[in-house]
Amino acid sequence: SNLDTLYRQVIMDHYKNPRNKGDMEGETLHVNMNNPTCGDRIQLQLKVEDDKISDAKFVGEGCSISLSSASMMTEAVKGQPVENALEMSDIFSQMVQGEDYDDKYDLGDIEALQGVTKFPARIKCATLAWKAMEKGLGNEEEETD
Ligand code: FES
Ligand code: FES
Repeated sequence: SNLDTLYRQVIMDHYKNPRNKGDMEGETLHVNMNNPTCGDRIQLQLKVEDDKISDAKFVGEGCSISLSSASMMTEAVKGQPVENALEMSDIFSQMVQGEDYDDKYDLGDIEALQGVTKFPARIKCATLAWKAMEKGLGNEEEETD
């Protein structure tokens, strides 16, 4: 359908011109995450100040779904309070699993990934960067306790 074509174009645009790819200066945390199914891995770097994500970048290797998702995720969470970013991650998980999801956030390009509901093996690719963010923010909370 036209929607599938549009979604594929958005995904390929993020894959070919990734946003926020590269190393960050002055990150407050970085976290490595791999997809056990294929061995692909990404490293996410976040700068968290006053419970807000002021910057997000990533490096790594992976398929078009995982890398475009990382690009979209870093765009979406930048400037968001930690709490909102974690909630967006839940919403994203629901979206790619084909569940009903809350539309309280403007997910923008991210909605292009809802096509993965048709390819269950790729859900882990789509959620890789989001899981990295969850892991990193979880670790940070432990460190500050
Ligand atoms: Fe098979 Fe990603 S793990 S497509
Ligand atoms: Fe490895 Fe998609 S095939 S992350």
